[in-house]
Amino acid sequence: MAILKIAKMGHPVLRQRAEPVSDPTDPRIARLVGDMEDTMADAGGVGLAAPQVHVPLRVIMFFVPAERTEDGQGVPLTVLVNPEITVLTDETATTFEGCLSLPGLTGAVPRATRIRYTGVTPTGERIEREASGFHARVVQHECDHLDGMLYPMRMADLTTFGFVDSMRAPPPPAPQREDAAAPVSG
Ligand code: NI
Repeated sequence: MAILKIAKMGHPVLRQRAEPVSDPTDPRIARLVGDMEDTMADAGGVGLAAPQVHVPLRVIMFFVPAERTEDGQGVPLTVLVNPEITVLTDETATTFEGCLSLPGLTGAVPRATRIRYTGVTPTGERIEREASGFHARVVQHECDHLDGMLYPMRMADLTTFGFVDSMRAPPPPAPQREDAAAPVSG
């Protein structure tokens, strides 16, 4: 197992369409997935797609922390080879996303709120699930990587795009004269 270098926005591997994997149970895929797991854990991400580690194949992985699911159950680490998405609703939600290929940046991205997705695991098991909320969002984000799409390309309002450490809430207004005795923070 190894920690791989993560491609950053601008690298051509992130813009190309990744190739389908002919045999998901090929041991080389298992090795790639092991390295991707190490890389994702090291970088502190919740998802990673093979093109992000300079491998243009249709392989993604993700997990959903318990606090990000409505039922509080979370979704365990899931690896999908050749994933496919079907959007189940016209409804979208717009929420801030980040990406390991755009370190330090964030932006508000509209995504379908409910999807069905399928794929095959490296052990040959076929997965088919319905997902909503953050779960649906992370799967759409990772699958986009397989088609050369990064989240800024999905953004409807680029004024929400920026560096996380510059986007903290503005400080509260200074107190009025009659409140001048109140403590002022900062
Ligand atoms: Ni990403």
